[in-house]
Amino acid sequence: MSNTQTNQSWGGRFTESTDAFVAAFTASVNFDQRMYRQDINGSIAHAQMLTRIGVLSETDCTAIVEGLEAIRGEIERGEFVWSIALEDVHMNIEARLTERIGDAGKRLHTGRSRNDQVATDIRLYLRDAIDAILAEIRRLLGGMAELAGREADTIMPGFTHLQVAQPVTFGHHLLAWFEMTKRDHERLVDCRKRLNIMPLGAAALAGTSYPLDRQYTAQLLGFDAPCANSLDAVSDRDFAIEFTAAAAILMTHLSRMAEELVLWSSAQFGFIDLPDRFCTGSSIMPQKKNPDVPELVRGKVGRVNGHLIALLTLMKSQPLAYNKDNQEDKEPLFDTVDTVQGCLRAFADMIPALRPQRDRMLESARRGFATATDLADYLVRKGLPFRDAHEVVGKAVRLGVETGRDLAEMALAELQQFSPLIADDVFAVLTLEGSVAARDVLGGTAPNRVREAVGAAQAWLAQYA
Ligand code: ARG
Repeated sequence: MSNTQTNQSWGGRFTESTDAFVAAFTASVNFDQRMYRQDINGSIAHAQMLTRIGVLSETDCTAIVEGLEAIRGEIERGEFVWSIALEDVHMNIEARLTERIGDAGKRLHTGRSRNDQVATDIRLYLRDAIDAILAEIRRLLGGMAELAGREADTIMPGFTHLQVAQPVTFGHHLLAWFEMTKRDHERLVDCRKRLNIMPLGAAALAGTSYPLDRQYTAQLLGFDAPCANSLDAVSDRDFAIEFTAAAAILMTHLSRMAEELVLWSSAQFGFIDLPDRFCTGSSIMPQKKNPDVPELVRGKVGRVNGHLIALLTLMKSQPLAYNKDNQEDKEPLFDTVDTVQGCLRAFADMIPALRPQRDRMLESARRGFATATDLADYLVRKGLPFRDAHEVVGKAVRLGVETGRDLAEMALAELQQFSPLIADDVFAVLTLEGSVAARDVLGGTAPNRVREAVGAAQAWLAQYA
């Protein structure tokens, strides 16, 4: 970062140079340089369109395209000198272009403003980011489906209020995560549709007097259409808010899964073993193996929620059209992209590598009267109204609590003192295997339903392969 003299791009009407602090305060180049590729692609498409409509000569166009490509090389090799005096990525690149190719560089900005330029760049940037995030979500979904297939028969306690409720299969639990994450995928696909509309041609706010072929530029840049209203085109940041909202929901989902991983990997649960490469030790307690990766993911939802509020607040009450406030959209957006990408990568690597401790899960399911509902349903099948059955089972559970035994561990005679309807076929429903197998309804936890759902999950993923 270098000089802070009068900005050559707009210095014409100014009589004194920008205050050095103000130049640094208003500059965005430190963070918006991350969009250099999109800025260059947008400029190349704009130049090609200007040439097609006869506003720019072929010679100028060739010089511009070659110049911009050379600048891309300079940036990628770390040779480009970014200047705060030139404010942002757009003016830095344009100034360097003019330095390299002379007057042709000064013609590039014909029929364009930084207002439609930046709005286009962010959309292009976010479109690329969403595509990368979607691919990473699918990698995570693939890992979940694979593990769910392996654990379709693994019995664990299902919880409500974090108290043992009914037995479920671990595969079923993993497929619940799959559904949550698949909705995140859908939300981002949907966000990408509304985002993929092109602001270029709106110019500063009102459109431009040049006969731009906006359809052509849109086509060159892979946009579905040009934005329909120039005022909206330069001031709309809904897509950024929408993306961040979808990201916040996704992060909320990851935090819920992370919380379960933290609980499950504790000695008290012991349901899973996290491979060492996802954990760290303690500098003072030699016995510790801490689930840092899930904990950090759980914590990172905070910053994404913060970014969502930042963007909503940034946009609130802004009058049309472009306002400098909008420069503040980038840092929250970029950090959201980085955070989501990092967390997804960690999860996609970690989930298929989890080592389920099946015996511990089974033992834990046995300890919580998880088949009490099955006993009630059994009594209902024998003709007892459900409320009465509930009462009978409640008494049997109380005996279990007092004597430290599960229902399946009681003698038939003991159970019969609570209801004469109980016969020796009761033990088939009191086993955990019988209980999960009985949930043989669409969307239920029965192992055959889980296997069926894994098949559907894999078929859904296969359409992207
Ligand atoms: N750096 C600016 C931004 O991020 C680019 C647009 C500036 N436009 C303007 N008229 N000052 O929004």
